[in-house]
Amino acid sequence: MRLFISIPCEGEFKEELIDTIEDLRAESYAGSFTDYDNLHLTLAFLGETDKRDLPYIKDAMIRVVSNLDAYEPFEITLEGIGWFKSREGRTYFRRIAENRKLTWLANSLKKELGIHDKPFKAHITLARRCKVYDDFDKEEFESELYDTSMTVNQIVLFESVLTPSGPVYTPLFRLKC
Ligand code: 2AM
Repeated sequence: MRLFISIPCEGEFKEELIDTIEDLRAESYAGSFTDYDNLHLTLAFLGETDKRDLPYIKDAMIRVVSNLDAYEPFEITLEGIGWFKSREGRTYFRRIAENRKLTWLANSLKKELGIHDKPFKAHITLARRCKVYDDFDKEEFESELYDTSMTVNQIVLFESVLTPSGPVYTPLFRLKC
């Protein structure tokens, strides 16, 4: 099973991301845009994993979250957009403002789970294989965005099944934090 741990987007924070997707869609002539209910911030990507490892993964999540400072509200805040080039267009994402606690959470999960991939860079993917019209102006686009915040109150272990119509995410374990 293909697994990842993430923070699902909720409330006004999710609404702002939906608005950004719609604005980006209007500026694009091609692209695969994230389903609203799939909007999430990935903390750790486990990839293809044996089902028998699920209890160890849940234990690792519990150990890490039990070390989070429970008395300080833990918020994440949106920043502008970013993109990188892929073979068939661009992948667009919203950046997340520098956040010590979020970085600690992601790095601790990766350490506990023995994941040694690229350094954690908090982002929320909005569109893949995206092709924007020539007159797209990133600065002007960003000036219309709101830097909405969200209180993080859970992390979730998801199974991701890749289908021709897009990924299907199923929550396997929710942990309050
Ligand atoms: P992305 O948003 O940056 O694309 C489920 O597939 C989640 O895991 C996605 O949010 C995706 O991050 C992330 N993911 C998929 N493949 C990955 C990989 N090879 N390395 C790290 N993260 C990956």
